[in-house]
Amino acid sequence: MLDITSRKVLNSGGKMPVLGFGTYSEPPRDRVVKALHFAVDAGYRLVDTATIYQNERFIGRALSELHAPPPRDDLFITTKVWKDALRVGAVRESLEESLQNLGLDYVDLLLIHRPLTEFNLDAWHVMEDLQREGLARAIGVSNFLVKHLEALREASTTVPAVNQIELHPFFYRKELVDYCNARSIVVESYSPIALGKRLGDPRLMSIAGNREKTPSQVLIRWNLQHGWVPIPRSLSEPHIRENAAVFDFELSRAEMDEMDGWNEDFNVIGADPDEPDFR
Ligand SMILES: NC(=O)c1ccc[n+]([C@@H]2O[C@H](COP(=O)([O-])OP(=O)(O)OC[C@H]3O[C@@H](n4cnc5c(N)ncnc54)[C@H](OP(=O)(O)O)[C@@H]3O)[C@@H](O)[C@H]2O)c1
Repeated sequence: MLDITSRKVLNSGGKMPVLGFGTYSEPPRDRVVKALHFAVDAGYRLVDTATIYQNERFIGRALSELHAPPPRDDLFITTKVWKDALRVGAVRESLEESLQNLGLDYVDLLLIHRPLTEFNLDAWHVMEDLQREGLARAIGVSNFLVKHLEALREASTTVPAVNQIELHPFFYRKELVDYCNARSIVVESYSPIALGKRLGDPRLMSIAGNREKTPSQVLIRWNLQHGWVPIPRSLSEPHIRENAAVFDFELSRAEMDEMDGWNEDFNVIGADPDEPDFR
């Protein structure tokens, strides 16, 4: 039985919570301070940020101002290296700045935010060093397709611990998740509730109604039952609590199968990071 304290074992040996808290927001970015306090109160321990979100110092502040801070070992803090740092070979500097902003000695997971084909390998080798030095407990990637993962596999024996990708029933990339599962790469689902843009889908509302749960909870649960790690984001305390209340029900095999059939290639960020329309 899963609960909010459940963890997945990473191929690098660490343990990652099965549910996370996304922190991207439009300005004013200091709103994340309050949201993170609500999230930790609600039981989230995985916090997902990135240099490009420009909120790491607010997350650092939120962590330092917690009334009952969980032990550092219980928290799982992820940040990401943006493509500008990849391009100029500043991966180490990027992490050092993140750590300073976050007020931490290490992150639990460091990701390449999106692939930049000719720079991925150099970045990855620096990240291997950062992991060896203990500045990043695990290293992984985000927005990598099979072609990017294959190129990495040819150049390095370090398998990414995680691939963070957009994933919800309306954008279900089965081939990519099957590839990650086969290589013990944990799939982490961003935009797991499709930015709220499909919450009125009648099929989704019907499953939610039958279960006396909300559409958002059903989408998060679909991810959890597939064994992926969803990281919903919210600034609203009721939504933060609602999105964490997903461990007291189970979707049936038939409901999971039905939702697996809803793919319509609807995506928030884009399908292929090598294409110019990828945001
Ligand atoms: N690696 C990448 O390239 C990448 C890309 C995108 C996102 N991410 C990460 O993934 C996280 C989540 O993805 P996301 O922010 O794109 O989208 P999301 O979590 O699918 O959706 C967030 C939106 O849904 C609303 N919402 C949240 N819970 C709700 C609920 N229970 N009922 C109704 N509306 C609800 C939020 O508004 P309220 O604030 O009003 O609740 C917000 O507008 C990000 O914060 C970020 O950490 C990573």
